[in-house]
Amino acid sequence: MATSSSLPSPFSLLSTLLALTILLLQSPVSHANPDAYFHACLSNNRWKNPSAPVSVTGALYTRHNSSFSYILNLHIRNKRFNRPNTPEPIAIITPFHESHVQAAIICSKASKFQLRIRSGGHDYEGFSFISDVPFVLLDMYTLKSIHVNIQNGTALIEAGATLGQLYYKVARNSNVHAIAAGVCPSVGTGGHFSGGGYGNLMRKYGLSVDNIIDAKIVDVNGNILDRKSMGEDLFWAIRGGGGASFGVILSWTMKLVEVPPLVTVFKVNRTLEQGVTDLVYKWQHVAPKIDRDLFIRLQHEVHHKRVQVTFIAEFLGRTDRLLSLMKKNFPELGLTESDCVEMPWVNSTLFYSEYPIGTPAEALLFEAKDPAWSYSKSKSDYVKNVISKKGLQSIWNKLIESEIIIMQWSPYGGRMWEIPTSATPFPHRAGNLFKISYYITWLQDEERVANHNLNLLRSIYKFMTPFVSKSPREAFFNYRDRDIGACPSNGTTNVDAARIYGAKFFRENFDRLVQVKTRVDPENFFRYEQSIPPHKG
Ligand SMILES: Cc1cc2nc3c(=O)[nH]c(=O)nc-3n(C[C@H](O)[C@H](O)[C@H](O)COP(=O)(O)OP(=O)(O)OC[C@H]3O[C@@H](n4cnc5c(N)ncnc54)[C@H](O)[C@@H]3O)c2cc1C
Ligand SMILES: *[C@@H]1O[C@H](CO)[C@@H](O)[C@H](O)[C@H]1NC(C)=O
Ligand SMILES: *[C@@H]1O[C@H](CO)[C@@H](O)[C@H](O)[C@H]1NC(C)=O
Ligand SMILES: *[C@@H]1O[C@H](CO)[C@@H](O)[C@H](O)[C@H]1NC(C)=O
Ligand SMILES: *[C@@H]1O[C@H](CO)[C@@H](O)[C@H](O)[C@H]1NC(C)=O
Ligand SMILES: *[C@@H]1O[C@H](CO)[C@@H](O)[C@H](O)[C@H]1NC(C)=O
Repeated sequence: MATSSSLPSPFSLLSTLLALTILLLQSPVSHANPDAYFHACLSNNRWKNPSAPVSVTGALYTRHNSSFSYILNLHIRNKRFNRPNTPEPIAIITPFHESHVQAAIICSKASKFQLRIRSGGHDYEGFSFISDVPFVLLDMYTLKSIHVNIQNGTALIEAGATLGQLYYKVARNSNVHAIAAGVCPSVGTGGHFSGGGYGNLMRKYGLSVDNIIDAKIVDVNGNILDRKSMGEDLFWAIRGGGGASFGVILSWTMKLVEVPPLVTVFKVNRTLEQGVTDLVYKWQHVAPKIDRDLFIRLQHEVHHKRVQVTFIAEFLGRTDRLLSLMKKNFPELGLTESDCVEMPWVNSTLFYSEYPIGTPAEALLFEAKDPAWSYSKSKSDYVKNVISKKGLQSIWNKLIESEIIIMQWSPYGGRMWEIPTSATPFPHRAGNLFKISYYITWLQDEERVANHNLNLLRSIYKFMTPFVSKSPREAFFNYRDRDIGACPSNGTTNVDAARIYGAKFFRENFDRLVQVKTRVDPENFFRYEQSIPPHKG
């Protein structure tokens, strides 16, 4: 992380802008040949920063560089977005210094290229690295330093760092501190935190965004801003409203949360014959209200045409206290001591990612792609009213018909119900019993299979309508989903068109996001298919 003395002063930035304006005015080729203009802009001496390990042109890949495809594909996590006809960027910039991010923004804007910003590349719709209009990819994975300060109880995290790198680093410093964030070590903090970030500590500590206390961002004019200089409205917006509508996140400062030296996990499955309908019915009453140290997720899947529900739990305490809590509140599950495994928090992050017990923490740094997730599509829903036993039975039947769809139900309550709806752009707080995630994954590179699977997912989503939130049917912003409304790649300046998806993701917070956008990016440079548009001038 560069020290503040190495940043360009406002004066040097101003002169850069001036020089570029002159370049633009003098250059009759700028529209005829935006490509040449883009390269000329990047080569400008103004971007030569003595503290940058390489110049911005040394961090630039075009199709002429032999490693262009390798860099492009490195963080494509879903092969649906890596097909022969997938549009490619005209250039990729992998920044090694903040000035490279500034150059990427200023030069893309001046050349009229769109900018797509990628950190971990997990976007469920590929919005971070695909566009139908000519675009530059700013690939942040190179800015990934993490500084943990146990005394202050904070971590300074560059946006290209992954959750796994962060969990590992925290655990190296302390066994009683943790990060409130999600499951899956290769997810990037750039997208995950700016989109909300939920995980199995949320009932006790809320979302990732509820623990972010500062951030550094580069705005549309190339200014580097922190919480103080960006203002509380922009700092509010990037904690759940998405980074990519507002600027490029360079880093986050996050509060660490406290955990005991040993947590307890369990994973038990139950079938119809074992009374799973009654158990899931009871779970809806128990899981959102039980002690906030306990998070019990459900995973529903079909094996040999039979529904199986797995109860996967994280408990911030030891086995004996967990067993007495379960005996008092949920004896029907029949949890026994032998189902429970105690381990340090960091190991539990691996357990949740389905690594076998005993896997060393270094696995968090391992970034290989999961072959089972070759092709995938996901959706989300929120449930505010308990689903009846009859309703559950109809869902089991639909699930059997839906073959390979997996549903996860994650309970809310605790801290999630205490934080006001308007505290961050994430609006799904009090009143939500649980969130549903739907997943379908497949291995075959065939249009027919893809269409079949997408239809299965859409069909169960439609089937679930009576059981989930209405007007709007809410959706989790970190689970981007084109089906719930999207704009063309060049984005929209039409607030009413954007409200179709905006109300589902943000409810009444959408209007405030539009206000912030109008202040910080009135020309709508930062845009994508589900971005926040500004009010027109
Ligand atoms: C296997 C898997 C498991 C998941 N588990 C969870 C979970 O447990 N909890 C949860 O909340 N979510 C989960 N998600 C969703 C995940 O949080 C989102 O997909 C998130 O947006 C991914 O962030 P990323 O940086 O990896 O993605 P990217 O594709 O790089 O980016 C996602 C979005 O953020 C923008 N963005 C990225 N970096 C920046 C930046 N530096 N500045 C500005 N904008 C930026 C992109 O432009 C894009 O719009 C999961 C996803 C997958 C694929
Ligand atoms: C890509 O190729 C150009 C021209 O040969 C070179 O200047 C640049 O450094 C290369 N990029 C990287 C990241 O190696
Ligand atoms: C730790 O906190 C102190 C007091 O708030 C502050 O002055 C210092 O800069 C912090 N250090 C880091 C590394 O954040
Ligand atoms: C269900 O649990 C049993 C007993 O713990 C285990 O043996 C079995 O592998 C589990 N089934 C699946 C499909 O996970
Ligand atoms: C937890 O992780 C440590 C460090 O990597 C490892 O040695 C240990 O075996 C793990 N323990 C459990 C119970 O998973
Ligand atoms: C955006 O794209 C749409 C559809 O591709 C097109 O009709 C429209 O003219 C474009 N708008 C701008 C401002 O480029």
